Amino acid sequence: MPGPRVAVAAAFLALLVPAAARSPGAAGCEVPPGDRFDCGPERLLSRAGCEARGCCYAPAGPGPPWCFFPRGYRSYRAENLTATASGYTARLRRVAASFLPGDVGSLRLDLALETPTRLRFTLRDPARQRYEVPLPTPRVSGRAASTLYGVQVNQDPFGIVVYRQRGGRVLLNTTVAPLFFADQFLQISTSLPSHFISGLGEHLTPLVLNTAWTRVTLWNRDMAPVPQVNLYGSHPFYLGMEDGGLAHGVFLLNSNAMDVLLQPSPALTWRTTGGILDFYVFLGPDPKSVVRQYLDVVGFPFMPPYWGLGFHLCRWGYSSTAITRQVVTNMTAARFPLDVQWNDLDYMDAKRDFTFNKNSFKDYPEMVQEFHRRGLRYIMIVDPGISSSGPPGTYKPYDEGLKRGVFIRNATGQPLIGKVWPGPTAFPDFTNPETHEWWYDMVKDFHDQVPFDGLWIDMNEPSNFVEGSQDGCPNNSLEQPPYVPGVFGGRLQAGTICASSQQYLSSHYNLHSLYGLTEAIASHDALLRVRGRRPFVISRSTFAGHGRYAGHWTGDVGSDWEQLYYSVPEVLLFNLFGVPLVGADICGFVGDTSEELCVRWTQLGAFYPFMRNHNDHGARPQEPYAFSPAAQAAMRNALRLRYSLLPFLYTLFHRAHSTGETVARPLFLEFPKDPNTWAVDRQLMWGGGLLVTPVLEPGKTKVSGYFPAGTWYSLFGDSTIHSKGQWILLPAPLDTINVHVRAGHILPLQEPAFSTAESRKKGMALVVALTPDGFARGDLFWDDGESWQSFEKGDYTEILFLATRGAVLSQLLWASAHLDGVLLEAVTVLGVTSPPRQVLANGALVGDFSYRSDTQVLRVPVSLPMWEQFVISWS
Ligand SMILES: *[C@@H]1O[C@H](CO)[C@@H](O)[C@H](O)[C@H]1NC(C)=O
Ligand SMILES: *[C@@H]1O[C@H](CO)[C@@H](O)[C@H](O)[C@H]1NC(C)=O
Ligand SMILES: *[C@@H]1O[C@H](CO)[C@@H](O)[C@H](O)[C@H]1NC(C)=O
Ligand SMILES: *[C@@H]1O[C@H](CO)[C@@H](O)[C@H](O)[C@H]1NC(C)=O
Ligand SMILES: *[C@@H]1O[C@H](CO)[C@@H](O)[C@H](O)[C@H]1NC(C)=O
Repeated sequence: MPGPRVAVAAAFLALLVPAAARSPGAAGCEVPPGDRFDCGPERLLSRAGCEARGCCYAPAGPGPPWCFFPRGYRSYRAENLTATASGYTARLRRVAASFLPGDVGSLRLDLALETPTRLRFTLRDPARQRYEVPLPTPRVSGRAASTLYGVQVNQDPFGIVVYRQRGGRVLLNTTVAPLFFADQFLQISTSLPSHFISGLGEHLTPLVLNTAWTRVTLWNRDMAPVPQVNLYGSHPFYLGMEDGGLAHGVFLLNSNAMDVLLQPSPALTWRTTGGILDFYVFLGPDPKSVVRQYLDVVGFPFMPPYWGLGFHLCRWGYSSTAITRQVVTNMTAARFPLDVQWNDLDYMDAKRDFTFNKNSFKDYPEMVQEFHRRGLRYIMIVDPGISSSGPPGTYKPYDEGLKRGVFIRNATGQPLIGKVWPGPTAFPDFTNPETHEWWYDMVKDFHDQVPFDGLWIDMNEPSNFVEGSQDGCPNNSLEQPPYVPGVFGGRLQAGTICASSQQYLSSHYNLHSLYGLTEAIASHDALLRVRGRRPFVISRSTFAGHGRYAGHWTGDVGSDWEQLYYSVPEVLLFNLFGVPLVGADICGFVGDTSEELCVRWTQLGAFYPFMRNHNDHGARPQEPYAFSPAAQAAMRNALRLRYSLLPFLYTLFHRAHSTGETVARPLFLEFPKDPNTWAVDRQLMWGGGLLVTPVLEPGKTKVSGYFPAGTWYSLFGDSTIHSKGQWILLPAPLDTINVHVRAGHILPLQEPAFSTAESRKKGMALVVALTPDGFARGDLFWDDGESWQSFEKGDYTEILFLATRGAVLSQLLWASAHLDGVLLEAVTVLGVTSPPRQVLANGALVGDFSYRSDTQVLRVPVSLPMWEQFVISWS
């Protein structure tokens, strides 16, 4: 809690307060183990080496650092705090040299009070322009007033404190450990108000991070997911829950290789190897608002085409057009829905992008056209590595790329050559505008031959089968920085290209983790120009802001139960990161799946926002039709369930796109005041209204789920849970996935079909889940499903549904013609406590309604135009 001088009831306050008195005892070394900050981050120190740094030495077990900073250890002091138009600025001066090379002696602090719920502060070198992440962030003029938070600047040692005005809870206090700002080592620590920290992807991790000495490394890496290892994406954002259910978030806009350290005090240390310190603090005060405030900065998600929410099927090993056609034929014969058929590398000629095999895929264009005639879409893989080994004049993407200077360069200014699937490859530099033009030309040339519908961009960390390049990497400070974060492989070049290679905007050292994002932007833009419709891009590598352009699949997951579980927190986390279009490979990618695993995975996968079954080369077949009749029946149910819920899912995507909401949602976002929900990551919600409780273990016919206080109806009305906020054991035979509707919500459904092209024309239904006082609401967003910016151009329909006092009615908020012809055919009202004597639809008697008093479900068959307002009442 801040001191009395800060408690002035001003909207904002920034003060210089003098240093706190050094704590008594042996030079400030009496620090409890959980509060110790590492004074030897880059190497192990002896007692003498440690004390030479002015630090304290106390060998302890695993966990706490043996060499740690004494209290009050001085690094920078703040001077000359002055008010500016947007907030405050100050000069920071280093008091004594640090133990790492390249200290920046003087820093400029800028603190901007950007909105009533968002604070930004940056630390820069005023004498030299350093690399900054080229992410477009909102421009703000003026200083916002806030009653939510206050800020305090500590003078010596320098630190920033952000606290809540009401109650004074400290959310951020960077005075807890010294600041470092050296050329390749920037570090800042903060206290945390609780142990509940979520975010900091991409890792194979539970939803809540462990604060008992965890190192989380961010540096995009091609790596089959295992715990504690940096994976494909970097999202330097965390959300912290506070007692009472408030929440805040912190985003470090920095793309360099970094470690984030969590320790028990609880506290967090950001340790990055370049760039500047550029922080956003989001004040919520509830967790949903924190996510939206984060997305206000990095961008709201793109709107996917409707077909993109259907079922996708892929594997590596569909070795010809004949086999690929068989897959579609077999799916149809087995009566499974399918919207998008995919191919992996198999279609290519010698694994080169933008080519196809003239033998096994000789009728490739015809195959894709045929799929289109059947109402299917088609997507194929494209890797960034461009084959460089053919004789000049034989491979246009390389020849053109060379001519137009689009490739990343090595120390001698030539294209850096690594090795990926086709053998030697050059890597396009997507930070170069010319590369975007070249990529568009390549995409267009190929699309002119093969009319694909979306792009699957893989291997874009970028992945490289040789370390650095075919010629190795130079020995310089970018390749061998004084501090190397805990990257898998121990070196920055491991599994990728040389850190000191040169890109248009800066070195690869700075831009590495942006490779996938920049490729996604180029691919999104190219698709839009080529097809003129809403782009659909799925990428393995991601960075903050990715969701604006593309979705993500969680990479090369194994076909095992552990990975099935981890897919739930991964999907939830990517929703917090603003990438709602996310899913894991259903039934697992690496290794053989089992029938039971594949059934459970298909049931869960029906609730991944992006639903794709994808299999590795050589593994046991795992298309839905490859299993026993009983397993197929269970999978068919799961798929039909998804297809019936698509109008609801699509509406959630619209809300994500237009207002920065999440689609798949952790329980704590809806129930922040119930701390039992905070760590739930074996269940997920769709929006605020649907709770999914999947089975994630083998041999189980029951599953335990947490139900926050309130009424929950099973989706099809066969049971009701009145929860006091408790764990409930649910029956879960192999053919069942538990899905519950939360009282107070109305979900729009549609009769399923074998593709969205068909299902979009079918009859609709409403599931109305009444609260005990008879209230519910919901909405529907609808458009043609694929036009670019239909919402922005006003070419859509939006309907509000309201239930109250024995009636449910629709209200047309916005109308276009796209819903014409679609009828509302059924209304199911859950929680009707007394038997109705009569039911009216737009004033006309409905004769054939049904009601069951044991389940309290009222079913009303109707035939009403969805595009007109209606009232259905019962009494
Ligand atoms: C701070 O202000 C004092 C007095 O105006 C000035 O002498 C000093 O140079 C300033 N320091 C910095 C770091 O700007
Ligand atoms: C911030 O941390 C410092 C160092 O641990 C401590 O002395 C100070 O009281 C803290 N400030 C607040 C407002 O909690
Ligand atoms: C399609 O089904 C047939 C008949 O069951 C089977 O022989 C064939 O292997 C299947 N093809 C694929 C690609 O799964
Ligand atoms: C740079 O790449 C070229 C191939 O494009 C290679 O011949 C040259 O040796 C490389 N230079 C260095 C320093 O590795
Ligand atoms: C790189 O150069 C440094 C300094 O010149 C040297 O100490 C180090 O051993 C070299 N490292 C490698 C991997 O060659």
